[in-house]
Amino acid sequence: FAHTVMTTKALNKANSSQEIFFEVELPKTALITNFSMEIDGQVYVGDVKEKEKAKTQYDKAVSSGQTAGLVKASGRKMEKFAVSVNIAASSYVVFTLTYEELLQRKSGHYEILTRVKPKQVVQEFKILANIFEPQGLSFVEAIATFLSNDLLPLVEKTAHISFSPTVEQQRSCPECDGSIIDGDFVIKYDVKREKALGEIQIVNGYFVHFFAPPALPRVPVNVVFVIDRSGSMGGLKMRQTREALLAILDDLHQDDHFALIIFDHNVSKWKNYLTKASQKNITDAKNFVRNIDHNGSTDIHGALQAAVAMLKDSHARKTIPERSTDLILLLTDDNPNSVSDIGVIQKRIQEAIGGNMSLFCLGFGNDVDYSFLDVMARQNKGLARRIFEGSDAAVQLQGFYGEVSKPLLLDVGLKYSDNAVMTQNHFRHLFDGSEIVVAGKLSDSVDNLFVEVFAQGSSNDFSVQGQAQVEDWDVIYPDEEYIFGIFTERLWAYLTIQQQLEKSDIGTALEKENNTQKALDLSLKYSFVTPLTSMVVTKPQTEDQPDSTLVADKLTEAQRQKAERAQGRIGAPAPPLRSRPAPTDGDPHFMIELPDRDDSLCFNINDKPGTIFNLVRDPRSGFVVNGEIIGKTVAGDEAHMKTYFGRFGITHDSLGLRLEVSTQDIILTQDDGEHVRLLWSNTTTVQWPDMEFKLTKNCSLTVRLRHAVKFMVIKHTKVWKRRHDRQDYLGFYTLDSHHLSPSVHGLLGQFYHGVSFELSRPDQAASVMYVKGRQLNAMRHLQKDFSFDVISGRTICCWFVDNNGTGLIDGTASDYIVPSLFKID
Ligand SMILES: *[C@@H]1O[C@H](CO)[C@@H](O)[C@H](O)[C@H]1NC(C)=O
Ligand SMILES: *[C@@H]1O[C@H](CO)[C@@H](O)[C@H](O)[C@H]1NC(C)=O
Ligand SMILES: *[C@@H]1O[C@H](CO)[C@@H](O)[C@H](O)[C@H]1NC(C)=O
Ligand SMILES: *[C@@H]1O[C@H](CO)[C@@H](O)[C@H](O)[C@H]1NC(C)=O
Ligand SMILES: *[C@@H]1O[C@H](CO)[C@@H](O)[C@H](O)[C@H]1NC(C)=O
Ligand SMILES: *[C@@H]1O[C@H](CO)[C@@H](O)[C@H](O)[C@H]1NC(C)=O
Ligand SMILES: *[C@@H]1O[C@H](CO)[C@@H](O)[C@H](O)[C@H]1NC(C)=O
Repeated sequence: FAHTVMTTKALNKANSSQEIFFEVELPKTALITNFSMEIDGQVYVGDVKEKEKAKTQYDKAVSSGQTAGLVKASGRKMEKFAVSVNIAASSYVVFTLTYEELLQRKSGHYEILTRVKPKQVVQEFKILANIFEPQGLSFVEAIATFLSNDLLPLVEKTAHISFSPTVEQQRSCPECDGSIIDGDFVIKYDVKREKALGEIQIVNGYFVHFFAPPALPRVPVNVVFVIDRSGSMGGLKMRQTREALLAILDDLHQDDHFALIIFDHNVSKWKNYLTKASQKNITDAKNFVRNIDHNGSTDIHGALQAAVAMLKDSHARKTIPERSTDLILLLTDDNPNSVSDIGVIQKRIQEAIGGNMSLFCLGFGNDVDYSFLDVMARQNKGLARRIFEGSDAAVQLQGFYGEVSKPLLLDVGLKYSDNAVMTQNHFRHLFDGSEIVVAGKLSDSVDNLFVEVFAQGSSNDFSVQGQAQVEDWDVIYPDEEYIFGIFTERLWAYLTIQQQLEKSDIGTALEKENNTQKALDLSLKYSFVTPLTSMVVTKPQTEDQPDSTLVADKLTEAQRQKAERAQGRIGAPAPPLRSRPAPTDGDPHFMIELPDRDDSLCFNINDKPGTIFNLVRDPRSGFVVNGEIIGKTVAGDEAHMKTYFGRFGITHDSLGLRLEVSTQDIILTQDDGEHVRLLWSNTTTVQWPDMEFKLTKNCSLTVRLRHAVKFMVIKHTKVWKRRHDRQDYLGFYTLDSHHLSPSVHGLLGQFYHGVSFELSRPDQAASVMYVKGRQLNAMRHLQKDFSFDVISGRTICCWFVDNNGTGLIDGTASDYIVPSLFKID
């Protein structure tokens, strides 16, 4: 249980006040427990409060123009804590940040990661680590990404590790101001493990039990790989997935059984049953994997059901060993879109699995709904992990499989003689290289704690008993009271909070509330900054700035992902344009551009003002575009009315978006109540998770719905100079529609996945057109108002099909009339 204190002291030697910055990074698995600033002897201490209460204070600060928010996600593993204060001339400040973390044993060791980026040479730089492990260390090493060979000997390594380079040793070159200290300082160690029962420590009425018995053989696994090959997995991701699968197949143990399920909108299997991991079978599977390519949309539900059924079937036929464990490993980069209610999917999968298998979910990239996967994994005794897009994605995938593919024990139950208030004490697996930790609060002053552990091993049942003495830790470590005074108690609180939080979004409403309340109470009592609490820091007043309130939060993985998306750090490359329909001026005019043929088709739709047409409807994602017609009778020509689109109603159900665009304004509304109104005269960008709205000054609104569609709405103005008249109207332009499903329809939607046509006389002004098995007349059409391509800036010719596009569109124009702007039937 690591207790880390980061501290910086700065003295303002200048003769005027200066802003002093404190920026440090801490592991995302750590919880902040304290922060203080000492300014000229006066100490300002952060206060941990319930998040809602802190938020009220924060909102007040925000509305008074003060910024807040001290914690941001930083890369895959870290969080950045940043604060600054204004310090008067000749004054000093000491910043102190404290955080705690239960180190997780992985691949046979613990790791303490410290990121150091002082950005300048500092007077006194020091990293000091003391490791107290009564069992003794089996090894310890310290490595730093920034250390060259000449600085390496400076690191002293025993259970006491220290690194304190002088100012000269920190310089990046003898005369430079720059520092070489910039990167990660990592301590790795493990303890000696001799006792099968593990290590039990009791202090002040709280105990902790670390269980990882030595030298156990591995239990065979039955693993079904469920691999997403939907369209979004295209390119690099698919290649990395293949690469990782090939490596993972090589890592399978010959006693294991495995299956491969590949899914898009359709679920396909390599074989209909689990296969023994013999050399020959693996070679066959690898040939199959090499040919997996991307296609279609994402039926996560169907694929998981197939995996569960396959495992059940193999058990029924007894083709897999009795002593073995069932794992399902799902890899996806997208959100489910067959059964699209994620709650329904989670419920059905949980029912199907019935606690008999572990489900591990890997979310590839930033577009996946990580919370969905995370909850589903935890509901099924597994866990979820994010796979970050990057050159090392295959290594991340393989690494994760390495962690969960070597169970040593199954159904591990740990029992204690005392009626202790305990953290989780039953575990489905103990994986090789990891450890089980149970902490508890003892009821009264016990001297001896009896402990029993039962589990299933690879060939026999495992059981071990023993007892732990209440040792006098003051005697063992007399000088370390600051941590050992209550470390078991804090560890117990930390572990309890973590486990309650994990349960706070699964189970019944009552259980959820119970778990959340318990986690909150402990977070407050022990001053942990968790997703339920915030630390409020009040920054002192200076001449030019009033008091300000700052808030340090704990980010959840889903929030980290959201922040990354908003920063757009990982963006999909722009896909090629497929079709670019453009209804513009006059009798709503539709144009279907066919870039691969360098040609286009167009038609008009005539109807009276007030009529609403459906332009796009994608039943799978719930993306709908409806447009309302407005009319204009130009002064001096009362006999003729021109019609245009004056209003669009655009919805995307799975993203919870509703967008209403008129010639006056643009109203964005999200399911969770977010609501923004923009005027065409604004030039602005609004970023919401998964969506971006960019309004530029030539009255064009570009909307990017991640993994769904990209389009533009433009406000045009038609001017009749001689008649001193004008009319505003709207055009809708699809920029990228390839994510929409094959069943997309609507006046425009039906052309998104291509249309093929033949012309009998393509070089003439009029021709017979063959399209959709029909024969129509088409005219070469070139009219600036109609065919000016706002995107390329060119005037394009099109083949015009008369009579409301009859023959070109499915059905007749009246089939596309809808009752209101946000309804389709
Ligand atoms: C403050 O420092 C500036 C330069 O750093 C110097 O020009 C000025 O005279 C100093 N003022 C005082 C009052 O020391
Ligand atoms: C936080 O730090 C301050 C200043 O060092 C100290 O006085 C206080 O006791 C600490 N609070 C907790 C909860 O540890
Ligand atoms: C799924 O794919 C298989 C083989 O590729 C095919 O036989 C089957 O009809 C497909 N099912 C659907 C619903 O597309
Ligand atoms: C896999 O390999 C074993 C041994 O090579 C063989 O007996 C078996 O038929 C193969 N296929 C399956 C489905 O297990
Ligand atoms: C890709 O999806 C299409 C459309 O559903 C289907 O017809 C085709 O068979 C799929 N291709 C492969 C290789 O499964
Ligand atoms: C889980 O396993 C138990 C014991 O084998 C069995 O009784 C139960 O039906 C299984 N649950 C499901 C949903 O298959
Ligand atoms: C809620 O918590 C209390 C006290 O911890 C417990 O007695 C009760 O059974 C819990 N209720 C549920 C539904 O979990």
